[in-house]
Amino acid sequence: MNKFLLDYNLKVRLPIIIFVVLAVFAITYYSSFAERNGIGYSPDQPIAYSHELHAGQMQIDCQYCHTNVEKSAFANVPSTDVCMNCHNFARTDRPEIQKLTQYYKEGKPIPWKRIHRLPEFVYFSHSVHVNKGIDCVNCHGDIARMEKVGQVSSFTMAACLDCHRNPEKRIQDFELIKANIKKGPEYCSACHR
Ligand code: HEC
Ligand code: HEC
Ligand code: HEC
Ligand code: HEC
Ligand code: HEC
Repeated sequence: MNKFLLDYNLKVRLPIIIFVVLAVFAITYYSSFAERNGIGYSPDQPIAYSHELHAGQMQIDCQYCHTNVEKSAFANVPSTDVCMNCHNFARTDRPEIQKLTQYYKEGKPIPWKRIHRLPEFVYFSHSVHVNKGIDCVNCHGDIARMEKVGQVSSFTMAACLDCHRNPEKRIQDFELIKANIKKGPEYCSACHR
C-alpha cells in the first residue's frame, strides 16, 4: 500500500467507519430500549380499532375482551370471534370492518402489535394485581380515552418497587381497597424467579 492510500485510509475512512459503527450501535441500543420501555410507544395497528369508541363511548367492559386478567398472569387480547359478535352486523359497510371480516373468514389471527412488554427475566402477574382491586388505569393510564393505545407509564424495576413500597401514593381510590391489600413484595425472587 502506498503512503497516500495509507494516509487516506487512516485519516478519512477510519473516522467515517468509526462514526457509522457508533451511530448504528446508538440507534440499535436506543430502539431496543424504546421497545422494552417505551413510554409513548404507540404503533399503528393492522385495524384501526379504538378503545375510546368501544371502552369509552360504548362502555364495553375491559374484561369482555381481556377475559384472562383475573385468571392468569397474562392479559390476553381478544380473538376475532369476539369482535364478530357485533361486527357480523355492525358497520359491515366500512373498509376497516371488511378487513376484520376478511381475517375472520380466513381464520387468521389479527397481527396486533404488542405495546407493553417486560424483559423475559421478569415475572409479572395480572391476576394478583387485578383481583386485589388495582384498576388497569394505575398501570396503563386512561385506556378508555385512547383512540390508539400507547404506553404511558414506566415499567422499570424502580417503578414497580415505588408502588410496592408506597401503594397508598400510587393506587387511585386506595381507600376503597386498602382493607384487602398488602404492600407489594420487595424481595428479588418475587419478580425474578
Ligand atoms: C372490544 C374489545 C376490547 C375492549 C372492550 C377493551 N380492549 Fe383493550 N385491546 C383490545 C384489542 C383488540 C387490543 C389490541 C389492539 C390495540 O392495541 O389497540 C387491545 C389492547 C389493549 C392494551 C395494550 C396491550 C399491549 O399490546 O400491550 C391494553 C393495555 C388494553 N387493551 C387495556 C384495556 C382496558 C384497560 C380496557 C377497558 C377500559 C380495554 N382494554 C377494553 C380489545 C379490547
Ligand atoms: C359490543 C359490540 C362490539 C364489539 C364486541 C366490537 N365492536 Fe367495533 N364497533 C361496534 C359499533 C356499534 C361500532 C360503530 C360505532 C359508531 O360508529 O358509532 C363499532 C365500530 C368499529 C370500528 C370503526 C368502523 C368505522 O370505520 O366506522 C372498528 C374499526 C371496529 N369497531 C373494530 C372492532 C374490533 C377490531 C373489535 C374486536 C377487538 C370490535 N370492533 C368489537 C360494536 C362492537
Ligand atoms: C400493576 C400494574 C398493571 C395493572 C393493574 C394492569 N396491567 Fe396490564 N400490563 C402490565 C404490565 C407490566 C404488562 C407487560 C407484561 C409483560 O410483558 O409480561 C401489561 C400488559 C398488558 C397487556 C398485553 C398482554 C400481556 O399480558 O402482556 C394487556 C392486554 C393488558 N396489560 C391489559 C390490562 C387490563 C385490561 C388491565 C385491567 C383489568 C390491566 N392490564 C391491569 C401492568 C398492569
Ligand atoms: C400501582 C401499584 C403497583 C404497581 C405499579 C406494581 N405492583 Fe406489583 N403489587 C402491588 C401490590 C399492592 C401487591 C400486593 C397485593 C397483595 O398481595 O395484597 C403486588 C404484588 C405483586 C407480586 C406478588 C405476587 C404474588 O404471587 O404474591 C408480584 C410478583 C408483583 N406485584 C410484580 C410486579 C411487577 C413486576 C411490577 C412492575 C412491572 C409491579 N408489580 C407493579 C402493586 C403494584
Ligand atoms: C416488584 C418487582 C421487582 C423486584 C421485587 C425486583 N426486581 Fe429487579 N427488575 C424488575 C423489572 C421490572 C426489571 C426490568 C427493568 C427494565 O427493563 O428496565 C428488573 C431488572 C433487574 C435487573 C437488570 C437490570 C437492567 O438494567 O437490565 C437486575 C440485575 C435486577 N432487576 C436485580 C434485582 C435484585 C437484586 C432484586 C432484589 C433486591 C430485584 N431485582 C427485585 C422488577 C423487580
